[in-house]
Amino acid sequence: MKRDFLNISDLTKEEVLEVIKYAGKLKKDRFSDQSLKGKSIGLIFMKPSTRTRLSFEVGVYQMGGQPLYITGSSTQLSRGEDIKDTGRVMSRYLDGIVIRTYSHSETEQLAKYFDGPVINALTDYLHPCQILADLQTIYERFGTLKGIKIAYIGDGNNVANTWLIAGGLMGLNVNVATPEGYEPSGKAVYEAVNLCKNSGGKILLTNDPVEAVKDTDVIYTDVWVSMGQEGEKEKKEHFRGFTVDRELLRHASKKAIVMHCLPAHKGEEITEELFEQFSDVIFEQAENRLHAQKALMSLLFK
Ligand code: CP
Ligand code: NVA
Repeated sequence: MKRDFLNISDLTKEEVLEVIKYAGKLKKDRFSDQSLKGKSIGLIFMKPSTRTRLSFEVGVYQMGGQPLYITGSSTQLSRGEDIKDTGRVMSRYLDGIVIRTYSHSETEQLAKYFDGPVINALTDYLHPCQILADLQTIYERFGTLKGIKIAYIGDGNNVANTWLIAGGLMGLNVNVATPEGYEPSGKAVYEAVNLCKNSGGKILLTNDPVEAVKDTDVIYTDVWVSMGQEGEKEKKEHFRGFTVDRELLRHASKKAIVMHCLPAHKGEEITEELFEQFSDVIFEQAENRLHAQKALMSLLFK
């Protein structure tokens, strides 16, 4: 049975822990895992990317495989060939697919028609590769994931949705503060709440950033306007009071760190001051994309 990674909950809690620990090993010895030797992996990007594209291209190469970067406009997808046929054709050439696109259901459809593993490199709904790397970063910083409290401040977007599900899966406390009308997806909240029943995780949704960050170990933020929402600039007016700044940090735990998945819009979701103060953590998150995704591919292509 092939395995996909469309959602962080496509792995068990134990597998996530295994992946982030193995990622730590690969970080020390980058060419030690050659499980993609002789394999061709298609990287389909319908949206821009710096980190995800580079970390997958380099990661596949380091594991002995061939990465093929495919932009949306360069394929027949842009001329209306459907996902069902694209998946069946690609099955004849490729061993795996990494896809970044808009609609999550398109990714699910591709996974249905493609014979090998499909990895979600971001949809409008979820960004599981990011959160996998972030869990590795938190594990490295705190030496454990047990009892970690995370506050996500900002837009209830793909990153926020994934944090909720990850919290439910891993048994973390995840508080999400968004302006009214920008709450995370009900589907993600439903999945997270159900996962919490087994894991002991706790979820809090609020419109008050101060309530969300109280005594937390991690303050996390992301852009207010995601890819595909560029026409919604007036949206930003609703986010006053949701900037992660020195004053908000005062309410978190004394040892709290600030995280950002990047790219950042400094002066909007985070002040330049705080961004620079925690730049070592933030760029570690970016580096860990490479290691966490390699560990993930090693598991999926076993
Ligand atoms: N964080 C992240 O996914 O960055 P890119 O959009 O540059 O891939
Ligand atoms: N929420 C952002 C994440 C970018 C990595 C977006 O979808 O554009």
